[in-house]
Amino acid sequence: MKMKYFRTIILGLILNGCSAPDVPHTSDSLQNIAQHYNTEWNSESNRPHAISGGDGFILKPCDASNVRHQDLFIYLYTLPESVKGYLDGKPKSTPEALHILINQSYRWEDGNFLSGFVGLAPDGTPFMHCGIGLFPNKNMAELFIIELPGFRNQGYGKKAIIALDRWAKFLNKAGTTVDGDRKSEIRTLIARVSPDNIPAIKLLIGSGFKFEFKHNEFKDELNEPRPDHVTFTHQQISVNGKSHTFTVMTTPKRPDPMVIFFKRINEN
Ligand SMILES: CC(C)(COP(=O)(O)OP(=O)(O)OC[C@H]1O[C@@H](n2cnc3c(N)ncnc32)[C@H](O)[C@@H]1OP(=O)(O)O)[C@@H](O)C(=O)NCCC(=O)NCCS
Repeated sequence: MKMKYFRTIILGLILNGCSAPDVPHTSDSLQNIAQHYNTEWNSESNRPHAISGGDGFILKPCDASNVRHQDLFIYLYTLPESVKGYLDGKPKSTPEALHILINQSYRWEDGNFLSGFVGLAPDGTPFMHCGIGLFPNKNMAELFIIELPGFRNQGYGKKAIIALDRWAKFLNKAGTTVDGDRKSEIRTLIARVSPDNIPAIKLLIGSGFKFEFKHNEFKDELNEPRPDHVTFTHQQISVNGKSHTFTVMTTPKRPDPMVIFFKRINEN
């Protein structure tokens, strides 16, 4: 009897010892993991303080109470030349633009780490909204990024994707036990862009996203609203003078064709 009790204790200790390091429960351990992914962690608010993008470019969580973030969202989403080619390409009203910011900021409050970031130039100017958001499929997250026109084509897009890639790896490493509504590992990042959005297509290809997938590979994951209503076609698009065949998706909810890009997230 005594021996059995002893063995149970030893077994318990071994099991605890094996599993504990992979299952962080405190914000302190999140801080340590974040550090590994070049992310400053704010233990008090339990969210990142800043993610470094290199050369002074940083990502900060969206903050609806920050006037500079408010101004950024108004410019980003109400100006026709800014939203052209992004989502439905239609400019939003000022309240709608602010609503996007409020929604993205509010979500940080309840420990939902799939929320938005504002990108700051080295002089501190906010010019970008980006992030990875929830997708209907639990193992997929959608990457989004939009910059003020004056900051484009200067390499910030590539830097942001590298930072977001690290952020996705951090989320996976932090484990499914972190607070918030992310319950599973992100295995695939996807991005959807209009076939005539050449800067975005170049950015994604240059950042390691793929645009060819096997028939039915993501059919169930991309089900908006039902797999049998999703149509995949192929389209030739010329990028840098070279013609590529892209898989293009349409759904009843999103009748405008969208090229689907994806990237596997591997740990390291
Ligand atoms: C798409 C977008 C984020 C790109 O960001 P960016 O900071 O300009 O990208 P980068 O400077 O890192 O450039 C990435 C690549 O795109 C190319 N590129 C950028 N702007 C370009 C332009 N106007 N014309 C042609 N190529 C362009 C760059 O030369 C680079 O290509 P390379 O890898 O062959 O050198 C930016 O144009 C934007 O905000 N567009 C509106 C929103 C949008 O469409 N988002 C995409 C949804 S995911």
